[in-house]
Amino acid sequence: MTNPTTADYWSAEQYRGRHAFVYEASRDLVTDWLSPQPDERILDLGCGTGELTAQIAQAAGHVHGIDASAQMIAGAQAKHVRDNLSFEVQDAHRLPYRSGFGAVFSNAALHWMAPLGGVFSGVARSLIPGGRLALEMGGAGNVLVVRESVEQALSEAGLPALKHPWMFPSPGELATLLEAAGFTVRRLHLFERPSVLVGADGFRAWLEGFGSGWLAPLTPKQRSAVIRRAEELARPELWNGTDWVADYVRLRALALRGV
Ligand code: BEZ
Repeated sequence: MTNPTTADYWSAEQYRGRHAFVYEASRDLVTDWLSPQPDERILDLGCGTGELTAQIAQAAGHVHGIDASAQMIAGAQAKHVRDNLSFEVQDAHRLPYRSGFGAVFSNAALHWMAPLGGVFSGVARSLIPGGRLALEMGGAGNVLVVRESVEQALSEAGLPALKHPWMFPSPGELATLLEAAGFTVRRLHLFERPSVLVGADGFRAWLEGFGSGWLAPLTPKQRSAVIRRAEELARPELWNGTDWVADYVRLRALALRGV
């Protein structure tokens, strides 16, 4: 779920405590899109705290989870122990595997990994011919209200326009990237998933976690003023009177490596 530049801003426990919805909402990506088989070796790319990796391991031969964050990998190793499960700190831009996996899985990680061309080429090399990639990531329009409220808060404060670190492709853009890496796209689905951010401070906690790399150039005082103002700006659209509901948009794909 992270890349090397944002990898170690948060702990595994913090992630599980505040952001569990990210993996809980995607359990059907494992059952309905990946469909792990008992004899398969599967790579989980950007495995985070390993919750979905462990779910895959209940049905697969072996699962190897990788993430750029040493904290996430340590948290995954401490919680999920099985004979057919392994974890490793690894940079998705330099995958060392050659035809070692029947399938690659990735949830809520690829939007941290732009540019994706090299990542998908490495994934293709990691798969056996005909092997499949099942992925979910943020899609076009993801967290647009959140992004715009931060951009406006920065502008109002006379601060530089910071570019967010994520990539949220349209279905067409994702298909083009996958095909350029030698995949045939079998399924593609863009859909809205409004996501509750737990607690009255849910918006702030989300930005402090997921936005920490984005807002890192600011001083602590500037950062907290920007987050406070962004919260005010986003409130009419994202606060429903009881909860913060983030405007998540997800993009799922199932693609096969060419033979
Ligand atoms: C997401 O999972 O949609 C997401 C993660 C980090 C930043 C923005 C969106």
